[in-house]
Amino acid sequence: MTAPKVLGGFVVNGERHQTAFQPHRTLLEVLREDLDLTGTKHGCELGECGACTVLVDGTPVLSCLVLALEAQGKDVTTIEGLADGPDLHPLQDFFAELGASQCGYCSAGFMLAAKKLLEDNPDPTRDEIRRALSGNICRCTGYIKIFEAVELAARRLRGEDATPSREALHGQ
Ligand code: FES
Ligand code: FES
Repeated sequence: MTAPKVLGGFVVNGERHQTAFQPHRTLLEVLREDLDLTGTKHGCELGECGACTVLVDGTPVLSCLVLALEAQGKDVTTIEGLADGPDLHPLQDFFAELGASQCGYCSAGFMLAAKKLLEDNPDPTRDEIRRALSGNICRCTGYIKIFEAVELAARRLRGEDATPSREALHGQ
């Protein structure tokens, strides 16, 4: 027998949503399947890859491990809410410019985790970036481009020159 649905309300990327879902469904499922916000990726579903990372009340969570019910009444930010209208967030700009997003499956999770890092620590060291993003797995990039993109985004957000070096753009 299918469980009866409950009615849940969320604010997602600043917009209020109400939707009916079964109580066992995860936030990841409701975001992707009910709200059509497919930028949040469905990876391992075990809390191991970070592809499903979203922000709930500003904190990164693995949406595959959170029941949609637990997010009721909270503010959820997905990758679709990272840009400011037509203006990409600096993280999006530099992930694209440096090739830190290749197949792109991991990118939303990395950028949302990095957004929180840069809010808490606007000038992180490479080690601090590595630690903050250690719950996110990328199978394409070897991570260096991702770390460089986060460093450049941090510079731009601090109002400093954020011109990528030749090496960052084209390799050695
Ligand atoms: S899909 Fe959630 S951590 Fe992998
Ligand atoms: S860009 Fe492909 S998994 Fe990271």
